[in-house]
Amino acid sequence: MSRRVRLGVNIDHVATIRNARGVSYPDPSRAAIIALEAGADGITAHLREDRRHISDADIANLAAMLRERGRPLNLEMAVTSEMLAIALKHRPPAVCLVPERREERTTEGGLDVAHGHNWIAPFVQKLRDNGSRVSLFIGADPLQIEAASRTGAEVVELHTGAYCDAARDGHTDQAAAILEALVAGAQQAASLGLEVHAGHGIDYETVAPIAAIQQVAELNIGHFLIGEAIFTGLADAVGEMRRRIDAARAPD
Ligand code: PXP
Repeated sequence: MSRRVRLGVNIDHVATIRNARGVSYPDPSRAAIIALEAGADGITAHLREDRRHISDADIANLAAMLRERGRPLNLEMAVTSEMLAIALKHRPPAVCLVPERREERTTEGGLDVAHGHNWIAPFVQKLRDNGSRVSLFIGADPLQIEAASRTGAEVVELHTGAYCDAARDGHTDQAAAILEALVAGAQQAASLGLEVHAGHGIDYETVAPIAAIQQVAELNIGHFLIGEAIFTGLADAVGEMRRRIDAARAPD
């Protein structure tokens, strides 16, 4: 097994800390530069409708800084006309469409592409026409993967949250079953011509089995890395994650 897995570092929670005080620091763009220097391939940021962490100004700053450095911004956004206008304006290299509910603490499930196809497909088309590569954040469900492949999206990001929660809580059998579904989902998506990404809830312990899924080309990781940065610094946290991803893909 080889093919290097790209690492996208999600810097949302740098903005969460900043916003707790309503001041200008810590700056997500500074965190993004450190993450890139420590082994991240790109930066992911979720502009939520309620602006609870990343702000419109953050997106403008990140887009400009990353363009200058030739590194991709992956903009996570809800499927709304407000977010579409922002994405069309900044033209990030990558857009990941996610479901969003105001009352949720984080992105708790995947997009329902199977039922929302007629609504999602035009968004995908407009974003693609504007030069962004579009990913759909979905569960490893055969119906959702099949529906995603009919929207024109080039990528699916499989939701790993349930696997990571089960593994962390010691529910070994449940974790193994969810991992099996993720492997099958990755195989199905790749067979339909989709690039496969994965993300949500990944930490040092859960990263290896996910990175070892052969079809996975990119991982997006945020909360754990920003938390770990409190103890070891962001560069060390990203560097350690990078090493673990590479080790999971090393030839046997
Ligand atoms: N991928 C997507 C689509 C997400 O919405 C999130 C959370 O914003 C992540 C990855 C990263 O998840 P975590 O912060 O739990 O690592």
